[in-house]
Amino acid sequence: MKKKKRIMVIGGAGFIGSNICKYLVENGHSVDCIDNFSTGRRASISSLEGSRSFRIIEIDISDPDFVSEFGNEKYDEIFHLACPTGVPNIRPMAEEMLVTCSTGTSNVLKLAKRLESKLIFTSSAEVYGDPETFPQSETYNGNVDPVGPRSAYEEGKRFSEALIAMYVNKYQIDAKIIRLFNTFGNGMSPDDTRVIPQFLKRIRLGQKITIYGDGNQNRAHMHVQDLIRGMLLVLERGVPGEAYNIGGSTQMTISELALLIDSLTSMPVEIEFRPHFIEDHGGRLPDTTKIRGLGWSPRVTIAEGLLEMMPNYGVSAIDSASPETCETFELLSVT
Ligand SMILES: NC(=O)c1ccc[n+]([C@@H]2O[C@H](COP(=O)([O-])OP(=O)(O)OC[C@H]3O[C@@H](n4cnc5c(N)ncnc54)[C@H](O)[C@@H]3O)[C@@H](O)[C@H]2O)c1
Repeated sequence: MKKKKRIMVIGGAGFIGSNICKYLVENGHSVDCIDNFSTGRRASISSLEGSRSFRIIEIDISDPDFVSEFGNEKYDEIFHLACPTGVPNIRPMAEEMLVTCSTGTSNVLKLAKRLESKLIFTSSAEVYGDPETFPQSETYNGNVDPVGPRSAYEEGKRFSEALIAMYVNKYQIDAKIIRLFNTFGNGMSPDDTRVIPQFLKRIRLGQKITIYGDGNQNRAHMHVQDLIRGMLLVLERGVPGEAYNIGGSTQMTISELALLIDSLTSMPVEIEFRPHFIEDHGGRLPDTTKIRGLGWSPRVTIAEGLLEMMPNYGVSAIDSASPETCETFELLSVT
């Protein structure tokens, strides 16, 4: 039998964190979920409450008492996912993003060093800013404006990465970085400001779905279960101090995503275009050669993931929708 581990999941009440908490508890581990509920929700982890292997601790990782609060505990692994998310939150929560990514990550690193815990940190494709090369590999240094409208998130993540690299070099801790591209799946709040839950919510409410800009922005969506497999792999086999891209392999424009959802649902879908509310990046595509070298590849297609989500978001699927028909659609529609 595999060893039962004690694991801290920071940001565990968020979309990805709650999926990780569930996965770890289901696999026999004991999990402490740390969250300040800034963008996370208790509802996303309510199914775990009552489990003897699961605790929720409400605290901000930038709190000066954070390290002493947990300094006498023992954690085999720490998953650090804490950061306010969502493009519309970049302006109103800019300070929280920067403080969480600087003071917060510094506190998490102090704790990981003291407890000799393995650490994995979720960085973002946003460290590449508005990329000039496609696909983006880990060696690309990015195109980021340090005082631009998205800098609180972009530079916050970059600073967290720099802190981690410094801790690995100076103190030889076992910490790895994973750079996520767009991730989706069950567990996203229906009020989440990201594109897929927004589209599903509007369809459920009978409202037009809004595409900001011309709809030609490309994204490569990855299912959260593929992400979890990749994180566990990097935690086990990755090189400390290094970053690993992880993301979907299929590029799709926002307009194509809207058409794909339209093809999967029996409910009416109307699209409206509006000017973008913040400077957007035209496209992003991960070069995942490095993580594939550890044995990872995505398994869940975007259509399969959407079909799995739709009933939970009150959006009914067409009778003939199946993963096979959806794969055909993706092949036809994707550039
Ligand atoms: N979902 C994606 O597509 C995506 C893409 C790139 C990177 N990421 C990164 O992955 C991580 C998880 O993303 P998510 O989609 O689950 O976002 P989320 O907003 O659902 O989860 C983040 C969680 O962190 C918590 N948090 C924020 N600041 C905190 C603080 N100071 N102290 C304690 N808890 C705090 C929030 O309350 C929330 O529960 C984030 O770091 C995000 O930047 C996500």
